[in-house]
Amino acid sequence: VLVLLLALAFGYLLGSIPFGLLLTRTAGTKDIRSIGSGNIGATNVLRTGRKDLAAATLLLDALKGTLAVLAAGYFYGENAAFAAGLGAFLGHIAPVWLGFRGGKGVATFLGIALGLFWPAALAFAVVWLAAAYFTRYSSLSALMASVATVVAAKVFGTDALALLLATLAILLWIKHHANIRRLLDGTEGKIGAKG
Ligand code: G3P
Repeated sequence: VLVLLLALAFGYLLGSIPFGLLLTRTAGTKDIRSIGSGNIGATNVLRTGRKDLAAATLLLDALKGTLAVLAAGYFYGENAAFAAGLGAFLGHIAPVWLGFRGGKGVATFLGIALGLFWPAALAFAVVWLAAAYFTRYSSLSALMASVATVVAAKVFGTDALALLLATLAILLWIKHHANIRRLLDGTEGKIGAKG
């Protein structure tokens, strides 16, 4: 149990690094928390007009999840990897450093899935890209892709993996409550529209 708690804490520390905020602050763009959705994720970084920073945010927010599960799994096995993945996701969506107001977990969810079971991450990527191509909504694409990830984990992976990813997907959906309301209202911003 101690190992699992340590893995959870390790994941949380890594996950709570808000790369979107750090990169945009360093680059001196407009404060991402005052534009667009106000979120600290790659989608909102893109609303500054800086594609390079958005891509770097996506990559780093994903990789912190991948690194957390791979490192914990390497040293302490699968249960520790699961605990670190949960920790990384919680760290991203609720970082203590930002008063627990973190991101929506999309990139980190993808990175965690990649580290745990790459076919689930592949399902995410395929569904996200297809949905984004047809709808131009980042949030809707992420909501659909998160479900596909859980289905892929259940069908091709293990029940324990599917349960963990389902837990993360539920949190991801909760963090998207404002996006879901805007999607239903028809007022959600499309990908790349400036904030
Ligand atoms: O990555 C989060 C995305 O699904 C929505 O982001 O900024 O449009 O709320 P945003």
